[in-house]
Amino acid sequence: MDTFAFPNKVNFGAGAIASLNDCLASLKVEKPLLVTDRGLVDCGLLDEIIQKADLPASVSIFSEVDPNPTEANVRAGVEVYHKNGCDGIIGLGGGSAIDGAKGIRLMVHHQGPLNDYGILNQGWLKMTEPIPPMIAIPTTAGTGSEVARGTMLIEETNGIKIAVVGERLFSSISICDPELTLGLPPFLTAGTGMDAFTHCVEEYISPKFNPVISGIALEGIRLNHGSLLTAYKDGSNLEARANVMASAMMGGMGFAKGLGIVHSISHAVGALFGGHHGTLNALLLPACLEFNRESCLPRFRQLAQAVSIHVETKSDDECADAFIDHIRQLNNELNIPSNLETFNITTDDDIEKLIPLCEVDHCRLTNPRMPEATDFRELLLGHL
Ligand SMILES: [Fe+2]
Repeated sequence: MDTFAFPNKVNFGAGAIASLNDCLASLKVEKPLLVTDRGLVDCGLLDEIIQKADLPASVSIFSEVDPNPTEANVRAGVEVYHKNGCDGIIGLGGGSAIDGAKGIRLMVHHQGPLNDYGILNQGWLKMTEPIPPMIAIPTTAGTGSEVARGTMLIEETNGIKIAVVGERLFSSISICDPELTLGLPPFLTAGTGMDAFTHCVEEYISPKFNPVISGIALEGIRLNHGSLLTAYKDGSNLEARANVMASAMMGGMGFAKGLGIVHSISHAVGALFGGHHGTLNALLLPACLEFNRESCLPRFRQLAQAVSIHVETKSDDECADAFIDHIRQLNNELNIPSNLETFNITTDDDIEKLIPLCEVDHCRLTNPRMPEATDFRELLLGHL
């Protein structure tokens, strides 16, 4: 037997941010803690959103979430939450801010090191204390964290990036307003949009049985394909922004089917070297698909179709070639870097440090082909 669950409530569309006050009221939240990152404050977007959403004066703001959120960020946020007597959380920003908000939300009433709640420690069984309501509002279109039942955080016990996952961590409500992404610069549009694309692809080829998510992932790829390049070239195109935001949301809804080795590697890099997660995924995706191709060959036909490649006269192998070539070309057009130097990974030693982290990452368990240490080494060396 398999279990499928889709408990998300999403307010989606241009101007949806105006529903924030009603959402807070429906959740009986009077003193929210708004969790965001410094970038959103510095660029003025936070002020703009506060104005648009007509936020109550009782809102407290915590903006100290790092690009790869840490256990220390979570602790600091929990302190602000208690100090100000908050009764709910708003996660506003890119995936980092929303993931940080989820970590704070969990740890408001839970004790112990974050590592205890990690997916590999069956953390969901320990989420027994009250968890305050949370509204997630993405300002990028990529991570899908706004609708995901988990969060990625760097814990302090082993210093690695772990997934903390549990059904109680689904946001109470998500507000997806593509107008909030209109000012996203091209570099971030490309990186976050390719994160969404990679989620949908890795979910679709994951061997786990979930035909509902397979359908969602394919449609996410189709929407992303038609619009990411448009949004990259013309950030003011609201329709393209909405499509990419929908594909990000759909990728997030599909996490239950599992991701693959692109994410195993990018989680390791995120923990040790930092850098932009989605940009790295885009860089790694073609080679990781080559690594997987024999293990999921028939799936490339539908993947190719989703990006408008004519597949009728093609063999499965030709479909795989065409799809992987398509991604390489897309990466070029989006100016995705072609090697790991951008992430300060330049030596064999750097790579050796990453391999143990890749090997313990949970996403390798749902990769179509089980990778060994040598496979991770080869994949990383291929991008030096
Ligand atoms: Fe991702």
